[in-house]
Amino acid sequence: MQLNIAVFGSGRGSNFQAILSAMKRGEIPGARVHVVLSNNSSAGILDLARTNRIPALHISRKQFASEEEFVENLISILDAHNVNFIVLAGYMKKIPARVIQRFRDSIINIHPALLPEFGGEGMYGARVHEAVIASGETFSGATVHLVDEEYDRGHVVLQKRVSVQPIDTPETLAAKILEIEHEIFPKAIRMFAEGKIVEHDNKVVVT
Ligand code: GRF
Repeated sequence: MQLNIAVFGSGRGSNFQAILSAMKRGEIPGARVHVVLSNNSSAGILDLARTNRIPALHISRKQFASEEEFVENLISILDAHNVNFIVLAGYMKKIPARVIQRFRDSIINIHPALLPEFGGEGMYGARVHEAVIASGETFSGATVHLVDEEYDRGHVVLQKRVSVQPIDTPETLAAKILEIEHEIFPKAIRMFAEGKIVEHDNKVVVT
């Protein structure tokens, strides 16, 4: 299936950059980024999109009188750009339920730990790595997963591990994991573009 992707992000966009680079190298045939959306008008990810001549839009709940109006506008933007797949690349806001229903099994997120451990509401950024180190785990990693109504609970698509060394700090661990995020996120998108991932009997199946 041709993937017409919307990327949602709130920050610098290094994962988005990794996805674009993989696309430029021809590693994700059948996928194109049609639009980039951010809740944060000064997010680096929007500049990155503009530099690459990809439509970049700031849209946030605060711009609208009601949640309904916000969701209505969000869906219109996705439709106007013919989006059929959503990639959350460091997006710090919850995806509205109507968007999840509309794009069921076609929204993926990257999380900097080995889900289902160290995920859920409030588990983001440095807190994830602090919790991993505090627990004494010897491994952490990155997880690409489908997005459903619950934070970090959707089916796992791809995971890769890194070892946690006694000298690791939340910062060094974050840096190691970011490197593998950049590796597995484009890979996961490629798997979807190749139709290798399907949802069957409530499970993700790699064909
Ligand atoms: C990554 O650590 C990702 O796991 C998390 O947010 C961060 C995004 O970084 N969800 P970037 O904006 O892609 O550089």
